[in-house]
Amino acid sequence: MIKLDPSSFDESQLLPAAEAIKGGGLVAFPTETVYGLGADALNEAAVRKIYAVKGRPPDNPIIVHICETGQLELLSSYVPEKAYRLAERLWPGPLTLLVRKSPRVPYAVTAGQETLAVRMPAHPVALKLIELSAPIAAPSANISGRPSPTRGEHVVKDLSSRVEVIIDAGETLYGVESTIVDLLSEPPVLLRPGAYPVEELEKILGEKIYVPDFARGLAEASRALAPGMKHRHYAPRTPLILVEAREYSQLEAYARTVREEAEKHGRAAILASKETARFYGGLKVIELGSRGDMFSIARALFDALRRVDELGVDVAVAEGFEERGLGLAVMNRLRRAASRRIVI
Ligand code: TXA
Ligand code: MG
Repeated sequence: MIKLDPSSFDESQLLPAAEAIKGGGLVAFPTETVYGLGADALNEAAVRKIYAVKGRPPDNPIIVHICETGQLELLSSYVPEKAYRLAERLWPGPLTLLVRKSPRVPYAVTAGQETLAVRMPAHPVALKLIELSAPIAAPSANISGRPSPTRGEHVVKDLSSRVEVIIDAGETLYGVESTIVDLLSEPPVLLRPGAYPVEELEKILGEKIYVPDFARGLAEASRALAPGMKHRHYAPRTPLILVEAREYSQLEAYARTVREEAEKHGRAAILASKETARFYGGLKVIELGSRGDMFSIARALFDALRRVDELGVDVAVAEGFEERGLGLAVMNRLRRAASRRIVI
């Protein structure tokens, strides 16, 4: 394990990790969204190890991380012009774009598909590691199905003995994964809501992005989308009930319903907003952040989903949030983490 301060690390501290990547090993590293589990994207055997270590379904392709736009030419046979437009404005950043894969990229990366998902992460450690080694194929550094890791200790818990190097650079900035957009399709399609709001992408492109109804039957909605979206994911071991409201203007009445649901199930914990936490006196509460600041909620979410299992409760009940901006990504993660969903 290498512990680093992202604002003042020395390149030499990353050399063992870069050597591990070049030698076909696996390295867990920080990005601005969540921690990634990386391998040399052009080394098929190394990429296969990622699936084995995570217990990842073989039909779930992996995002490749680059450190300069020029690497797109190495990895892809075709990049849509719109992708260049977004990349120019938003990379490095939490945005993943689909391109056509080059024959050089092993099918292990794309799970047999002709499209390749690429992003340039906005994290100095990730960028330097790529620069010192190679384009890095990396899914989130969790055991498949678990919440994505937003802290070094999450990675250690899930993967410690199974990877060559873990780089711990503290808490990640966004706490939810990148937004994935397919610009090869007409109109563009949102494959996964994420840290970069789709509304902002539409402004830059000057056109609408098709947003599938991710909530409507997870498997059905994502059949043709990011294959990873069809799996239940992010789930704590404790049953999680998500109580959604059609709208969140009457917060006190809403909290009363959430509380009633929690009290039906024995010992309960509630994942609550700052505004409603005070209505849950006597119950265990994990406060996520303020409804007016979805950034804070996104950032706290995966750590909260992991902490639920440490509370010794029979059930956890999560509040819902408005699906605007980052709220779309937050609700997508909560729905996929929930064992039951109630809409009131
Ligand atoms: O923020 C992120 O994107 C993080 C950090 C580490 O970069 N990575 C991440 O990777 O979230 P992962 O593997 O946990 O999620 C990647 C998602 C999966 O749902 C996968 O199905 C989808 O991206 N994906 C990857 N390649 C794809 C492709 N060629 N076509 C469609 N979906 C793809
Ligand atoms: Mg993941």
